[in-house]
Amino acid sequence: MKKIIITIDGYSSCGKSTLARQLARELDYIYIDSGAMYRAITFYFIQNRVDWSDTAAVKAALENIHLEFEYNPETSQSDIYLNGENIEHLIREMLVAEKVSEVAAIREVREFAVAQQQKMGEKKGIVMDGRDIGTTVFPHAELKIFMTADTAVRVERRFRELYAKNKHITLQEVKENLELRDYIDSNREISPLRRADDAIILDNSELSMDDQLRLALQWVEDVMIVQPS
Ligand code: DC
Repeated sequence: MKKIIITIDGYSSCGKSTLARQLARELDYIYIDSGAMYRAITFYFIQNRVDWSDTAAVKAALENIHLEFEYNPETSQSDIYLNGENIEHLIREMLVAEKVSEVAAIREVREFAVAQQQKMGEKKGIVMDGRDIGTTVFPHAELKIFMTADTAVRVERRFRELYAKNKHITLQEVKENLELRDYIDSNREISPLRRADDAIILDNSELSMDDQLRLALQWVEDVMIVQPS
């Protein structure tokens, strides 16, 4: 069957990666979490004390960054590797979350990540989630989904996720981080988060995981019908 590109963009913590993973599993596609790439770059910058207000320092640092995704059979997910080291867990820490939107707004960082993302999609059969996937990375993708959910629902979801790992985290902290990231991601100069004109909106505030998957699979089917094989 013909393979397509599926893009999933949207605000922080509205379940993009859950849906992307579900779709990739159902369709036997590759799932790429583009946010993990921005998180990994941020992690590298923090760890190596890169001054990201200095363009020359950013360019030099990017030359030393090699990112790869590798399938982890234990979790049935792809983990991100930075220069050969699995940093999947480290990039989910609050320290990275607090800085990632700032780093992701840098032109050189975006060019670096987008070029790699576009390469990953050359053979199609891919589901990629992020903020600019349907607008900048794959503007000609066959199916574009723009996800959204009520802020309270998103905060609650992210809080539960983080609290499982860190009992000191507060709901307020999570809410502030989420709102700040959405603000920076939506208002940055380069490739801000916005819905592509041809993206379908999926508000999953009140949908179960099964419901959202069923909906998205229906959209895939609709796209397949009009695609020349
Ligand atoms: O999806 P996430 O929360 O892991 O993404 C982390 C940050 O990376 C997010 O705040 C914005 C940025 N990002 C981006 O600018 N463009 C993407 N395609 C994906 C993520």
